[in-house]
Amino acid sequence: MTRLALQHNAINLSQGFPDFPAPAEVKRAAQQAIEADVNQYAITWGAKAFREAIAAKYARVQGLAVDPEREITVCCGATEAMISSMMAIVNPGDEVVVFEPFYENYGPDAILSGAIPRFVKLQPPDWSFDPAELAAAFGPATKAIILNTPNNPTGKVFTRGELDAIRDLCVRWDAFSISDEIYEHLLYDGAEHISMATLEGMRERAITISALSKTYTVTGWRVGWAIAAPEVTAAIRKVHDFLTVGAAAPLQAAGAVALQLPESYYEGLARDYAARRERMLGILERAGFRCFRPRGAYYIMTDIAAFGFRDDVDFAKYLVREIGIAAVPGSSFYNDPADGRTHLRFAFCKKESTFQAAEERFAKLRRG
Ligand SMILES: Cc1ncc(COP(=O)(O)O)c(C=O)c1O
Repeated sequence: MTRLALQHNAINLSQGFPDFPAPAEVKRAAQQAIEADVNQYAITWGAKAFREAIAAKYARVQGLAVDPEREITVCCGATEAMISSMMAIVNPGDEVVVFEPFYENYGPDAILSGAIPRFVKLQPPDWSFDPAELAAAFGPATKAIILNTPNNPTGKVFTRGELDAIRDLCVRWDAFSISDEIYEHLLYDGAEHISMATLEGMRERAITISALSKTYTVTGWRVGWAIAAPEVTAAIRKVHDFLTVGAAAPLQAAGAVALQLPESYYEGLARDYAARRERMLGILERAGFRCFRPRGAYYIMTDIAAFGFRDDVDFAKYLVREIGIAAVPGSSFYNDPADGRTHLRFAFCKKESTFQAAEERFAKLRRG
């Protein structure tokens, strides 16, 4: 959709990258690191100062004690942290439980690591799951469950009760949770982010993944991490070493500065995103979309049935070509495309001038 947006000179509300600047102190730290010649390979599993900053932040925010020497692998974004983790623990034929709709990469990640995905539906409007359906997806072949909270594309934030139910199944079937928590600071309406690793019984079986990308507005830097128990980390580090050797050294140095930003930074971030969410909800609702109000992350899932198009792909093509707005067809988040036929996802990590332009263009849109 980003390519189509460029081709049609459309406003890109598809891919999840902000169009506003990163924090000045974080950019300055990267400039200073390059100037100071932090330009050669870092330790393959991550620069010491950066790993220590990651551990300090988890202790501060989640109350989680992480050993920076034995439990952290710095990767090229959450993307690499996820595939490295999957390849580290999955043997061909192992099953991996995946909530659906899911962030697109998890499907290919399962294929590349030889895992057989078992999908469990998150049901609108609140994207809750049926505990019986989840329990039925687990069994002796289950190696892991992939969890993404706050969730892309739905904006769901898993509750403690839901996480407890997942934990019980992981313990019962001796399975890992691989928890993608990249939107951990983007929370609305009092929603609380609970890291799976903090639940009793999960410390040894949780792999926690996050990144600088979304929290510090630097999706192009490609710096993320996986946190796991020492034995699991040893395996992740091996895969990571042979896949990429390491993440950009000067950007890890800047990451250490970013992770030490004061609490007020995260409060401001969540406040600004809450305002963007309201702005985008208003625009979409006035344009005739039924919106599923997100409690976290920076996307709005919509229902497009009112527009009378054959499916989501047809409507997305019409929007990008005729209205000049790019969004992601819902089918790309489902194993069976038919399940996403009535959905379209919009990203709201955008500046006010982008919202204004989108609002003007949506004025041309008519319901079918
Ligand atoms: C749930 C989720 N995980 C991971 C990523 C990618 O993270 P990174 O840019 O750190 O590789 C995204 C990007 O949209 C995402 O939505």
